[in-house]
Amino acid sequence: MTIPLGFWSRFRLYFLFETFVTETGLGESLHICSPIDGVYKSRFSRVGTITEDHSLAESLQIVHHPHPTLRHKSKPVQRVDGELVRVVRRMFDLMYEAKGIGLAANQVDLPLRLFVVNLAAQKGEGEEMVFINPVLSKPKGHEKMEEGCLSLPGVYGDVERPKQITVHSFNLRGEEIKTELDGMMSRVVQHETDHLDGRMFTDRLTETGKLSVRGLMEEFEVDFESKQNTGEIPVDSALNSRRAELETRYC
Ligand code: CO
Repeated sequence: MTIPLGFWSRFRLYFLFETFVTETGLGESLHICSPIDGVYKSRFSRVGTITEDHSLAESLQIVHHPHPTLRHKSKPVQRVDGELVRVVRRMFDLMYEAKGIGLAANQVDLPLRLFVVNLAAQKGEGEEMVFINPVLSKPKGHEKMEEGCLSLPGVYGDVERPKQITVHSFNLRGEEIKTELDGMMSRVVQHETDHLDGRMFTDRLTETGKLSVRGLMEEFEVDFESKQNTGEIPVDSALNSRRAELETRYC
């Protein structure tokens, strides 16, 4: 997510809370169980060795509307390996380059239920947080705030959301995190969790709000179609196959 123009003035917020783990047992994998009946369980298990293939993390780029992965409802992550740890590191780096405070896996063309957040929007500052398989509950209150998104640079609009929220998620070590959030963190976590369900903040604008961003969104649509026509972006069938392969590996 990017933050409201008027909030942290020059900052674009893309959004989150828990320390990023750079050393997470490379050489082993974690199994992360998805929530069952609202109850989270996690366990670690050694399930093979890391791949030497670094190409996935290195190849990642932020994708823009209307890339189809932005509309993909991601499945829970069941396995964390060394490559996924590198993917998370790369996501933070891409987020900082774009001056963001939050970035969801869908936004780097990955069908995985995870996102990263650092409200400071700068490497070496603030706190890096990773949310894997987040589930939101106990919404309280309402608040309107201007939002932006790294997948729609330059587009902003007021979105009404619950003011407070409780999130259950896992970190890269498979440890469960449960916390109540408010303020900007609540806003970012809700925005990023929407991405994991294939939802963009523009879906939540009022009819007037949607009308006011329509022209800019159409420019992104024309650009995307042109890039698919020239082969710069793969055709939808190739994008679908790639997502299916990644789901087989991690979900
Ligand atoms: Co966004």
